[in-house]
Parts: sequence; C-alpha cells; structure tokens
Amino acid sequence: MTSVELLDTLARPLRDLRISVTDRCNFRCTYCMPKSVFGADYRFLDRKELLSFEEIERVARIAVGLGVEKLRITGGEPLVRRELERLIAGLAPLGVELTLTTNASLLARKAQSLADAGLHRITVSLDSLDDTTFRAMNDVDFPVERVLEGIEAATAAGLPVKVNAVVKRGLNDDGIVEMARYFRETGHTLRFIEYMDVGATNGWRLDEVVPAAEIVQRISEVFPLEPANANYRGEVAQRWRHLDGAGELGVIASVTQPFCGDCTRARISAEGRIYTCLFGLRGHDLRALIRSGASDEELETALAAIWTRRADRYSELRTAKTASLPKVEMSYIGG
Ligand SMILES: C[S@@+](CC[C@H](N)C(=O)[O-])C[C@H]1O[C@@H](n2cnc3c(N)ncnc32)[C@H](O)[C@@H]1O
Ligand code: SF4
Repeated sequence: MTSVELLDTLARPLRDLRISVTDRCNFRCTYCMPKSVFGADYRFLDRKELLSFEEIERVARIAVGLGVEKLRITGGEPLVRRELERLIAGLAPLGVELTLTTNASLLARKAQSLADAGLHRITVSLDSLDDTTFRAMNDVDFPVERVLEGIEAATAAGLPVKVNAVVKRGLNDDGIVEMARYFRETGHTLRFIEYMDVGATNGWRLDEVVPAAEIVQRISEVFPLEPANANYRGEVAQRWRHLDGAGELGVIASVTQPFCGDCTRARISAEGRIYTCLFGLRGHDLRALIRSGASDEELETALAAIWTRRADRYSELRTAKTASLPKVEMSYIGG
C-alpha cells in the first residue's frame, strides 16, 4: 500500500484517527450522555452492528497508509468493550502512536494488560477532585478516589498519563486551581477543555463556557504561567509552563479560539461511520463498504476521496444559529 500526502480542500493532511469502539458508557456525564435523554429507552448498538476488531484493524492499517500517525481509541467508554487488549495488540504492529481516552473507572485493573498489549499512552477524563462535584458530574455516584487509583496504576504500568477536564461554569470551575495544584505535584499533564456544543442532548449554552483565557488567568494568579510553543502542527491544546519549573498544563479553546485550520483528524464511530468533523451529522458508512466485500484498494480509494473532499470548519463558523443544528453525539464518536 502506498504512503501519500493526502490533503483536504483546505490543505490539511490526515494525521490522527480516533476510533470509537463502543457507544456504551458506565457514566452519565451531564455534558455528554445526560440521564434525562439516555434513559432506559435509549437504544444502544447491537454487538453485530459494531465494527469487529478485525474490521477496525483493517481500516486503521489503510488509514496509516494514507498518512495517519496517531490512533486514539475512544467511546463511549472504551474499557467496557470486552477484550480491548486484543484490539490494542492488533494495532500495535502498525508502528504509529497508539493511545486511549478513558474515564478510568476500570483502569486500575486493566492498565498493566493494556501496556503489555502495546498501548503507548493514556488520557484520563477527570473533571473535578471534589468528590461531591465529581459524583454529580458523572451522575452515577462514582468516587473520584477510584479514578485517581486508575491514574496511579497506569503510571505504575509505565503509561504516560494526561488528564483532561471539561470546565462548565457554575459546576466545576471553582476547582480549577485545585486541579492545577494537584497535577503539578503528581507530574501528570493536565488539560482544561472548554465545554462544547457537541450533540443535541446536553442543552449547551454559551454562558456556561469558561473561556480558556479565563482559566489560564485564574490559575496564573496562584501559579504564574508563561506560554510554551506547540509541539507539532495540529496540537489542539495551547501549552502553558509553570514559571517555577513545575511542569506545564494545557487549555483546549475549541469554542473561544477554534483551530479548524490545523485540524488533521478523522473519527470513526462504533458502527463504522467516518466523520471528518466533530460537528458532522451523518458521516460516511465505511461498515457497509467493508461488509460488501470491498478490497483494500477500494477502501483506500474511498477513504482518500472522503478526506480530499473535506471542507469542514464548523467551529470557525459557529454562530447562535449553527449551535442549534442537529449534530452527532459525543458519546457516539468519542470526542
Ligand atoms: C466522549 S468521551 C469518550 C472517552 C471516555 N468515556 C472518557 O470520558 O474519557 C471523550 C472526551 O470527550 C469529552 N467531552 C464529552 N462531552 C463534551 C462536551 N460537551 N464538551 C467538551 N468535551 C466533552 C469528555 O470529557 C472526554 O474527555
Ligand atoms: S464523557 Fe466519557 S465517561 Fe462521560 S458519559 Fe461521555 S463517554 Fe461516558
């Protein structure tokens, strides 16, 4: 298979592929899968509707041939998919960066086997260190202590850990400085994410977004920060360094300072639809193509065509009007 420099209509290469392995989750984070909507009657995908590990490995291999340098496994909650280690072991030989985003609820017992299977690093989502706030945000009464145990287990297994925190005004923004303090000490990279208008179920409002600039200012008042340069094109987090040398943190300003111009990502949903923007609605049905018996060459041609036609830059065009358009749920394509 050829390795080519594939560019979309805005000259952006395809570098990152996020693969959702399940639409299910054992949390009901209020900004992602609120209980009021995803109640008992919510229909999750059947097992046969999910891409199999073999199908995922095949698509990933073809995407790597088209320039993908980084694979991220996500969900729903990826660790609820059975035998995920088998997928990691199948993807590791592709030789690209292999990472996973998780709520860490099951991480303490899986960290070592994931590392052994060939995972390179891990991102843990943790929105608050305050147990009451955290239990309210995950909405299944899950204690923060067990997430911290998961982070420790991953670190002990040799997996570098980044921690992502979504900030929602009035809910967890009072804990920003405490988070910065804690992760300065543990040495894990912490990144704050602006609450985004993904999906249609979270009732997003602009006044609930705490702008990244405000987050940085609030931390800087206690722990002075200076800007650090981006590591690579398309890095979504703006990096800030602690002036006293105690590491760095990041902010992801997808609402107040969109970065579509540098977006090099594609996402595959658990049922095998490919999305070239987080704010897409329909995506393209790769599963149908795979299950119709398409050859590797046909799959490669289809993927390349989807990417080269890509013109998405939703975040840069976001207006009050676009915020109310129908969009795919975050739990479905994995953030
Ligand atoms: C959809 S989750 C999937 C992986 C895993 N369940 C987890 O929570 O890490 C991926 C990321 O999306 C983030 N996310 C979900 N809804 C969001 C929203 N409305 N705005 C910003 N980030 C969001 C989560 O905080 C998480 O870090
Ligand atoms: S953010 Fe992750 S953990 Fe929370 S509900 Fe969404 S998929 Fe589940």
